[in-house]
Amino acid sequence: MTAPVSRRDFARLFAIGGSAALFADPAWARTAPQTPAFVPGAAGTGEAFWASVRGQFVMPPDLGVLNAANLCPASRPVLEALRRETDSVDRDPSGQNRARLTGEKEATRNALAEFLRVTPEEIVITRNTSEANNMVSSGLDLKAGDEVIVFHDNHPSNLVAWQEKAKRFGFTVIEIAQKNPHPGMDYYIDAYKKAITPKTKVLTFTHITSTVGDLFPAKELCALAREHGVLSLADGAQTFGLLDVNLADMSPDFYSGSAHKWACGARECGVLYINARSQAKVWPSIYSAYPGAVGISKTFESFGQRDEATMIALREALQFQTKVGRAAIAQRSHALANQLIAGLSKLPDVKVWTSPNPALNAAVVSFQPGSLNAAKLGQVLYEKDKIGTAGRGGADRGGLRASPHFYNSPEEVDRLVGAVAKYLKSGI
Ligand SMILES: Cc1ncc(COP(=O)(O)O)c(C=O)c1O
Repeated sequence: MTAPVSRRDFARLFAIGGSAALFADPAWARTAPQTPAFVPGAAGTGEAFWASVRGQFVMPPDLGVLNAANLCPASRPVLEALRRETDSVDRDPSGQNRARLTGEKEATRNALAEFLRVTPEEIVITRNTSEANNMVSSGLDLKAGDEVIVFHDNHPSNLVAWQEKAKRFGFTVIEIAQKNPHPGMDYYIDAYKKAITPKTKVLTFTHITSTVGDLFPAKELCALAREHGVLSLADGAQTFGLLDVNLADMSPDFYSGSAHKWACGARECGVLYINARSQAKVWPSIYSAYPGAVGISKTFESFGQRDEATMIALREALQFQTKVGRAAIAQRSHALANQLIAGLSKLPDVKVWTSPNPALNAAVVSFQPGSLNAAKLGQVLYEKDKIGTAGRGGADRGGLRASPHFYNSPEEVDRLVGAVAKYLKSGI
């Protein structure tokens, strides 16, 4: 159901407009025409607030892209930072002009550490989650006789990567099968517990699966790993920038994420968290110049010439999310996803693969649209209804995936449900 933007919402927003000056920042002023002014932290004001947030993105107002699990747009402040910093280097590529970028990179490290509630000494700035995951699987001393427990529904960078490296280094990969619908947190905790043997060295899982959006018991699995002297890698590609992730509380040995997904940063920037207690156990995979300045980044982040503009843009993205409100972002995406699940579940023949239990889902929703060809449906949704989704090919829980984020609206979710209902009736 679409919640209308009430006049009271707007009035309340504008009434507190004076205090917005406290957050004065020229980038915030340039919103799309006819969108209310963005007032940081005003999430409680409802749809008017979210419309103002949407105004901070350059996507056309009538285009509803529900594809955050794949790629998110960067907001205006992020784009401005990216353009400003890219321009600066191309206008003047001298070492003198670029000298300050070392400090900028460290400022991003500090921002990442604060965002994830850990220390800068534990942060490596990578290109993306794939690189971060592979730096772990390539960097640990694993050999014949060792076992690594993975979840079968992990992304290739955290599944195929282990399988291939097992061939090279001789260790064994033990797979936990996925179960649909989500069988509950205890089921997976138990499955991992049963799979642990004295040979287990690493346990890895995806915090929220990219396939059907199953939420995993991250804290419990990390605790289980610690109890058994096993290292844990939490793939956070689908939680970094979506959930208010607290790594101090979760306490994994490794956590990975990408800027261009839920964090709405620039492309080709990511994070690898390496817990202080585990740093001595992992080797760098790349040796080159220009390391980071503190902690693990001094040895692990010598990646040669980098693009600091994307890092500065990521810092802007984290600030933007903090201004919007991190808990509010998680709640908004969750509410939109559950609105979508409820709407799709009412349609005849639609099979929703994502759990309808809000305690087990997040903001990734996959469904089979009856007997409709999902690829064709995805295309017609985009062309005729201006809704972006992702196709999920193959026999395993195939169909379409929609992943709404805080810049999406209840109207866009309704539009998707309405369009699917229409094509189920009329055909494509
Ligand atoms: C769970 C998971 N891990 C890793 C990745 C890889 O992310 P990237 O392409 O940003 O490296 C993805 C991408 O969708 C993902 O969903």
